[in-house]
Amino acid sequence: MKFKMIHFSLITFYLLIAGENNKCDAGNVFVDGIGCLPNVCGCDEKDIGRINNIYAKTYSMIAGLKKFSFGFWNDRKNCTSPKLVETVFLFYNNASETNRKLGFQLNHTLEGLEDAPFNKDGITVFMSHGYLDLKPREFYDEMRDLYLNKFENVNFILVDYSDGSMGDYWEAVANIQTVAYQTAFLVEKLMKTRGLNVSTVRMMAGSLGGQMFGLTGRAIQELTGVKAAEILVFDPASPCFEFEDHSLHINSSDASSVILVHSNMGNFGTTRLSGTVDFCPNGGRDQPYDCEHWTCKL
Ligand SMILES: *[C@@H]1O[C@H](CO)[C@@H](O)[C@H](O)[C@H]1NC(C)=O
Ligand SMILES: *[C@@H]1O[C@H](CO)[C@@H](O)[C@H](O)[C@H]1NC(C)=O
Ligand SMILES: *[C@@H]1O[C@H](CO)[C@@H](O)[C@H](O)[C@H]1NC(C)=O
Ligand SMILES: *[C@@H]1O[C@H](CO)[C@@H](O)[C@H](O)[C@H]1NC(C)=O
Ligand SMILES: *[C@@H]1O[C@H](CO)[C@@H](O)[C@H](O)[C@H]1NC(C)=O
Repeated sequence: MKFKMIHFSLITFYLLIAGENNKCDAGNVFVDGIGCLPNVCGCDEKDIGRINNIYAKTYSMIAGLKKFSFGFWNDRKNCTSPKLVETVFLFYNNASETNRKLGFQLNHTLEGLEDAPFNKDGITVFMSHGYLDLKPREFYDEMRDLYLNKFENVNFILVDYSDGSMGDYWEAVANIQTVAYQTAFLVEKLMKTRGLNVSTVRMMAGSLGGQMFGLTGRAIQELTGVKAAEILVFDPASPCFEFEDHSLHINSSDASSVILVHSNMGNFGTTRLSGTVDFCPNGGRDQPYDCEHWTCKL
């Protein structure tokens, strides 16, 4: 990979990158606050046909999806550049009702991190979302409550990158590279300023968010030299990751333990068994009760 990463503090970093805009190698693009990231060029046109078929089936199943146009899949440019994503990190813990429900908001610049609720003696769990699916937030709120009720002192951090995931799919694929570095910068800064033990970090997400956390695991190793404890992913996204360009696909090097659960293989979910452990309930492809794509008829 052609990352030109800079390992100093963010402030040093912002000073260093001023004026670097045109210094990326061909095929890379400069992203503010990050440096040079590769354009995503490896997705094959075949994927578009494949995804349109799946999408058409899903679309006909769920009336609510009518608001999304097929353009999301068709508008793909050949090479797509990652952009600066206005990622928001939401910190939750058990210290107060506000911290349980509302969360402490930090943006990607990490300004104000010193005020974020963070307990170095608790486990640190990052959770994120996939393409188009952060809002409504009920599912993520439920997961947060499960963690807060089960573990003492848990740091539960929701990575909201919907600024980069609600548009064209191929742009979202390129953008997760930015989000991965933003999240890894946060981990590095928590390590340096708040005593975070990186080898206790866990990350979990589905679909595109799973691929994003794979890249985050790599960036964490690059920045800190330490592997996160675990990445848990439901159905890592298939389109653009699985067939043509495997370099962005989550794999077993991305954390000490990479646990992949496959329920939708060959549709939106990858067929690559690339974790340290891969679970394939009911064969991993189609689920009973008509759970073909996004809904189940129980
Ligand atoms: C995309 O790539 C194909 C094959 O390389 C080329 O024929 C086509 O003109 C390109 N499209 C755009 C919009 O650049
Ligand atoms: C990020 O948060 C800081 C502190 O709250 C604020 O001053 C800054 O304007 C924010 N930046 C962006 C890009 O939202
Ligand atoms: C977290 O706080 C809630 C509400 O005060 C409480 O019900 C729960 O038991 C606490 N969880 C832990 C692990 O202390
Ligand atoms: C960091 O966490 C790992 C895994 O739980 C543990 O083995 C190690 O001792 C911890 N390091 C420190 C300095 O606490
Ligand atoms: C995971 O992917 C990275 C980047 O392509 C690669 O360097 C590494 O060797 C891969 N690890 C495994 C186990 O495939």
